[in-house]
Amino acid sequence: MRFFIDTANVDEIREANDMGVICGVTTNPSLIAKEGRDFKEVIKEITSIVDGPISGEVKATTTDAEGMIREGREIAAIHPNMVVKIPMTAEGLKAIKALHAEGIKTNCTLIFTANQALLAARAGATYVSPFLGRLDDISTPGIDLIQTIADMFDVAGLDTQIIAASIRNPIHVTDCALAGADIATVPYKVIMQMTKHPLTDAGIVKFQEDYKAVFGE
Ligand code: E4P
Repeated sequence: MRFFIDTANVDEIREANDMGVICGVTTNPSLIAKEGRDFKEVIKEITSIVDGPISGEVKATTTDAEGMIREGREIAAIHPNMVVKIPMTAEGLKAIKALHAEGIKTNCTLIFTANQALLAARAGATYVSPFLGRLDDISTPGIDLIQTIADMFDVAGLDTQIIAASIRNPIHVTDCALAGADIATVPYKVIMQMTKHPLTDAGIVKFQEDYKAVFGE
């Protein structure tokens, strides 16, 4: 399983990229709004940091296929690495089909059932984004959805890639890797949590103490 970072904050993206752990970025309208910056400006900056797929979503207020197709073309024109994020609706599927026919990569977002993922894959989506954490939030095991989609795509021989999204903690990450997600898009906070273990910290302190006791600073 590969890692994308799920943020529109360029400082976080730079940090994660410098660690060498991410190979792509996902954004959404809420994450862009949180930064309070112009969409194109922030997306352009992200493309200058990470050399990999960058998901930029159509406007949250655009709900018709024609509008999504028009915006999708604009997003794709920003940089060759751009992936157009389209919400899972009937209109969204039409937009995915049209953009796919033009060779534009898409990421079908807000996937909450296996059937939604199957439809998006058949429409030509490059990626599907099942939302793990938001299902957990309503007492429905999100990991089961990732597992089912992975099995289903395998049986059907579909090459649409699964981006496990709405990741809230390091256990989600491990579970997604085992369930067969191709990618997990992980918030910066969770990436940092994944680097930690109390015994690692204790080990560093002990090594420093032992070293200093003999060799000094
Ligand atoms: C995925 O692409 C979404 O941007 C994101 O993972 C949603 O996460 P949330 O449910 O924590 O907002």
